[in-house]
Amino acid sequence: MNKLRVERVSKMFGGLQALKNVSLETGGEILGLIGPNGAGKTTLFNVISGFLPPTEGAVYYNGHSLHRFRPHQIVRLGIARTFQIVKPFGDLSVLDNVLTGCGMPVYPSWRAFFRRYHTPLTEKAADEILELTDLSAWRDVPASSLPIGLQRRLEIARALATRPDLLLLDEPAAGLTSHEAEALAQLVRRLHQQGKSIIVIEHNMAFAMGLCERIVVLAQGEIIAVGPPEEIQNNEQVINVYLGRSK
Ligand SMILES: Nc1ncnc2c1ncn2[C@@H]1O[C@H](COP(=O)(O)OP(=O)(O)OP(=O)(O)O)[C@@H](O)[C@H]1O
Ligand SMILES: [Mg+2]
Repeated sequence: MNKLRVERVSKMFGGLQALKNVSLETGGEILGLIGPNGAGKTTLFNVISGFLPPTEGAVYYNGHSLHRFRPHQIVRLGIARTFQIVKPFGDLSVLDNVLTGCGMPVYPSWRAFFRRYHTPLTEKAADEILELTDLSAWRDVPASSLPIGLQRRLEIARALATRPDLLLLDEPAAGLTSHEAEALAQLVRRLHQQGKSIIVIEHNMAFAMGLCERIVVLAQGEIIAVGPPEEIQNNEQVINVYLGRSK
């Protein structure tokens, strides 16, 4: 099983400490990452996925340090992420958006280099991903024409195209109706059943609590609680800084 270990990670932005001594281990589960705006959740994803170096501490994947790894190298190790603000290639079709993620890691020939997005193998793989993410019906339409719920799905489809073992989802349910969020939860469960480890950042508490096996709560850059959803929902400190009394 793939294992991610974040060890005493801190991140400074000038005088602002976005992460303070964050340590966590995960693998083989659906882990939720919740907390107020500005808590450092996306920053933690940025550090894990190589978009930002930690100021202190280290990230290990299957025992190997990711120190100085570039984002594309981390993708090759099997860690993929989605972004809080979805950024599909708007003019490209849904299929082509997924094909950009499939790519070909090595070019067997000069000609293949130019045809790399249209080799039968990658197109078949992309179609399978569209099937899995229920996007086949939109295969040939421009990505920009999709409503936000489907664009978020496409964001996941693109991440899946890199064949990750660990998937980092940054607010995948934002802007979704409760019906769309439930369909998304089913997709995430399916991916987990296929053997993927998942970390999901969410503000939609019904979604996070119903989906995640374990929840980590960040507040002002620090982990203030870790536990199963029922425990987190009744944690006094979490209620005070984030959930509030009415939830
Ligand atoms: N690249 C950056 N440069 C400077 N400050 C940053 C940068 N990225 C994040 N921050 C700051 O770090 C803190 C944590 O931000 P982060 O985006 O990680 O929070 P978050 O928990 O994802 O919040 P939200 O729920 O609103 O998405 C915030 O104060 C933010 O303004
Ligand atoms: Mg964020």
